[in-house]
Amino acid sequence: MERTQDCRGGSVGAQRVHFASHLQTMAKMEVKTSLLDNMIGVGDMVLLEPLNEETFINNLKKRFDHNEIYTYIGSVVISVNPYRSLPIYSPEKVEDYRNRNFYELSPHIFALSDEAYRSLRDQDKDQCILITGESGAGKTEASKLVMSYVAAVCGKGAEVNQVKEQLLQSNPVLEAFGNAKTVRNDNSSRFGKYMDIEFDFKGDPLGGVISNYLLEKSRVVKQPRGERNFHVFYQLLSGASEELLHKLKLEQDFSRYNYLSLDSAKVNGVDDAANFRTVRNAMQIVGFMDHEAESVLEVVAAVLKLGNIEFKPESRVNGLDESKIKDKNELKEICELTGIDQSVLERAFSFRTVEAKQEKVSTTLNVAQAYYARDALAKNLYSRLFSWLVNRINESIKAQTKVRKKVMGVLDIYGFEIFEDNSFEQFIINYCNEKLQQIFIELTLKEEQEEYIREDIEWTHIDYFNNAIICDLIENNTNGILAMLDEECLRPGTVTDDTFLEKLNQVCATHQHFESRMSRCSRFLNDTSLPHSCFRIQHYAGKVLYQVEGFVDKNNDLLYRDLSQAMWKAGHALIKSLFPEGNPAKINLKRPPTAGSQFKASVATLMKNLQTKNPNYIRCIKPNDKKAAHVFTESLVCHQIRYLGLLENVRVRRAGYAFRQAYEPCLERYKMLCKQTWPHWKGPARSGVEVLFNELEIPMEEYSFGRSKIFIRNPRTLFALEDLRKQRLEDLATLIQKIYRGWKCRTHFLLMKKSQIVIAAWCRRYAQQKRYQQIKASALAIQSYIRGWKARKILRELKHQKRCKAAATTIAAYWHGTQVRREYRKYFRANAGKKIYEFTLQRIVQKYFLEMKNKMPSLSPIDKNWPSRPYLFLDSTHKELKRIFHLWRCKKYRDQFTDQQKLIYEEKLEASELFKDKKALYPSSVGQPFQGAYLEINKNPKYKKLKDAIEEKIIIAEVVNKINRANGKSTSRIFLLTNNNLLLADQKSGQIKSEVPLVDVTKVSMSSQNDGFFAVHLKEGSEAASKGDFLFSSDHLIEMATKLYRTTLSQTKQKLNIEISDEFLVQFRQDKVCVKFIQGNQKNGSVPTCKRKNNRLLEVAVP
Ligand SMILES: Nc1ncnc2c1ncn2[C@@H]1O[C@H](COP(=O)(O)OP(=O)(O)OP(=O)(O)O)[C@@H](O)[C@H]1O
Ligand SMILES: [Mg+2]
Repeated sequence: MERTQDCRGGSVGAQRVHFASHLQTMAKMEVKTSLLDNMIGVGDMVLLEPLNEETFINNLKKRFDHNEIYTYIGSVVISVNPYRSLPIYSPEKVEDYRNRNFYELSPHIFALSDEAYRSLRDQDKDQCILITGESGAGKTEASKLVMSYVAAVCGKGAEVNQVKEQLLQSNPVLEAFGNAKTVRNDNSSRFGKYMDIEFDFKGDPLGGVISNYLLEKSRVVKQPRGERNFHVFYQLLSGASEELLHKLKLEQDFSRYNYLSLDSAKVNGVDDAANFRTVRNAMQIVGFMDHEAESVLEVVAAVLKLGNIEFKPESRVNGLDESKIKDKNELKEICELTGIDQSVLERAFSFRTVEAKQEKVSTTLNVAQAYYARDALAKNLYSRLFSWLVNRINESIKAQTKVRKKVMGVLDIYGFEIFEDNSFEQFIINYCNEKLQQIFIELTLKEEQEEYIREDIEWTHIDYFNNAIICDLIENNTNGILAMLDEECLRPGTVTDDTFLEKLNQVCATHQHFESRMSRCSRFLNDTSLPHSCFRIQHYAGKVLYQVEGFVDKNNDLLYRDLSQAMWKAGHALIKSLFPEGNPAKINLKRPPTAGSQFKASVATLMKNLQTKNPNYIRCIKPNDKKAAHVFTESLVCHQIRYLGLLENVRVRRAGYAFRQAYEPCLERYKMLCKQTWPHWKGPARSGVEVLFNELEIPMEEYSFGRSKIFIRNPRTLFALEDLRKQRLEDLATLIQKIYRGWKCRTHFLLMKKSQIVIAAWCRRYAQQKRYQQIKASALAIQSYIRGWKARKILRELKHQKRCKAAATTIAAYWHGTQVRREYRKYFRANAGKKIYEFTLQRIVQKYFLEMKNKMPSLSPIDKNWPSRPYLFLDSTHKELKRIFHLWRCKKYRDQFTDQQKLIYEEKLEASELFKDKKALYPSSVGQPFQGAYLEINKNPKYKKLKDAIEEKIIIAEVVNKINRANGKSTSRIFLLTNNNLLLADQKSGQIKSEVPLVDVTKVSMSSQNDGFFAVHLKEGSEAASKGDFLFSSDHLIEMATKLYRTTLSQTKQKLNIEISDEFLVQFRQDKVCVKFIQGNQKNGSVPTCKRKNNRLLEVAVP
């Protein structure tokens, strides 16, 4: 395929070539997917050949027999009720039909649903699904199928799913309260329902609104034979738990309740109990609170029990009939259930108050009136409850947002019905169906044909029956049946059903579709099938005979005010809210609009609403009257086909065009398929479309140009156009994508390029910098080498010059030396001897000192070694050196002493000065350390007293022997020397014997021998001297004498006289005794002995 690409048009040229070929390929594709595949009969009646009633029915039957219950007439779906479940609604089927063209697959209700949903979502057109057909034809089922399909294909997500679930679950609730078994249908809708499902722009459901139309409330109090009351009553009794029933004061037995017909209380295949659970569950999902659901059931129970209230006549004195409640038990229970005062309700059943011109008139009710009142109350209670339910559901499912919504309406109304006895309800129901048929005719037959004419399209008119005339008979404002009925109801005077019939007979007698025996027109005078109290209408779907009885009452829908006031007074909040007119504060004397006029108005609104939407039709057909599967009663089907006008529908369809569209939107939609029209067409839209269609080479017979619209005959052509558009849109999208991607890549590339340049510049700069630094470094190195080399060269030269100079100088010096020596040689020898001697001496002294250095003795002060003298002439130097060295090492030794050591050595030195070479005992004392306190008085507890008596520092504490002057024997005494005193104490007791202040000590005497005797002389005249001097002997004489000397010196600043002599005098009291030391005998070993020789002599023998 050649494609001329340009950024505006892409491959427009290519489109033209091949519309025809595209049609062919489509046709080929359809070999796989078309409703023509494996078709049973024909799937679309438009294809039926020949077309007549017989072939039409045969086709339906053939398809029905093969379980093909759906057949098309163009875009209308005919559905034949199979009365059994078919496997054609599975999730797989949903997937099959999803996003497929209408004619792609075999006819199905899903195809129509998909079409409607997609045009709602994609083309923004509000849709409505109109489901028509008589009672039992399958409308309600069809509406549920449409809803479940849409729910399955539209958006997903938690919120959306909840909305869907609520929308779907509203069905079981409304069916329980609004459907009932009739002779025609086990689940017949007894109310009309129109549901708007709202979607957002994406096609996700947002919520919905349900409108309900006139519930057949007469069913609450009375059901025709073979029928049931509303399902909910049976469901409640069979499904509720014992506990709930007890609470609602109900019993399970149906026969206990007058309002429940017994002959068909059980319906085959229906499990009321299970359905009750389903309904309760559905209520919960829809959003009913528990208390709300309970209130609803209480109202249902109250209605059921109302039917059991019975009245008996009671004559009063004034002859008027009066009624009385037979058994008040039921009334009591109702009142308990609803919170109404029993007396109030009882009175409301017995009296009727009429207010006129501010006057209240109370009349008693007779039995018939009482029953009427009871039934009216039951009907009203139930129908108002039903409307409340719809409102409550609406509240739950209403869309939460205020965004613009797209709407899909689904209409499921009670079907056309003909019973044995047809009353006001059937009249209303059939009127509604009449209107629906009207709208179908309007939109498909009439409007379509009129449009062709309007648009100047060549057209041969097709006849069809237009039921507008019947609608007019019923709804005409001046002489329509409903208007007559209202007139009768409002007219003062006695009004009965008969007067109403009379009126009808007068007004409508001439109407073609109105039949009455009493009418002036004599046509039916002899028609025995037409009873006197009836009138007959020829509806589009057949003749229906209406019993006039009850029309007036039902239209009036009268509830005595006493009853509505009683209800308003109920303690039950729900019941109270159902009867707002019972509020005495809001009494409204105006008559409420009649049931008929209300219905007419709501139907008119509905019709108006439907006309604004794009209609989709499902026409349901009932195959038999027995609710049986596999039975196809031709006559019955034939009748429905006729009145539904299906054959005409096919004819119009066949003659007409499948699709039309105004030129502007058409051009707008397809202009991208042609080069001339894309992107803008300058001329009028029509010529644009002409150019477009010519370019695409669409066969001429496939379309026609109207005044304002293009008409396309075949859906296939439209689909081909759509396909091309889709493909073209894809191309355009690709083009946009391409340009965008190109732009994105280019911008990216340019950015990369710019960045690359920047990076490259930086890299180069860096490299150049590096190189420059290298070159610079190399240049410097070379420079420095060269400079170095040059410098070294100069240095070498300079050194050479210097050496040359030095050499010259040396040579010169030597030369001069030689000269000088030569000149002075004669003077040299005269002084040589002296010089040599001095030099030699110097050398010897030098050598002596150096050798001495190596021969030094140890540093010990007692080391006596000293190297020998090498030369005699150095003798004095050598001795002096020895002395200096000894002094030096003594000083060294002394420098190491601590203060204490110093003290000890000072004492020792003192001792040496005092006794060295004077006393023979001295040498033995040198090695003994001076301890002073030999007796540890402080530590010994024995001397505690002694210690306490002495406050001063003790310098000597030692045991000495005190020599007794009488016999020379000795006793042990403790000798204590303190700073100021000398003390003697008893060795054993520690008691102080004598105390001598140091100032009183004058002298110490001792021998020069090796003994420890010494005498302490005291000052004459002193106190201590009274007893005389002391003579002691001690092992530590030297130490004691030294310490005594030092202490006395430091305390008295006087030197103690120490006398060393082998003979001295000691003053004992008055006598002076001489102590004499002699070299003694060896008797006592080495211990000296002392002996008194006479009064004047003590002799000490020292060994
Ligand atoms: N598509 C179907 N598949 C199987 N059974 C169906 C189908 N459509 C209808 N039926 C059967 O037919 C019965 C009647 O259908 P439905 O209640 O939809 O009729 P209707 O047209 O709503 O009647 P009415 O006007 O009385 O409400 C259903 O209860 C069901 O048993
Ligand atoms: Mg129904």
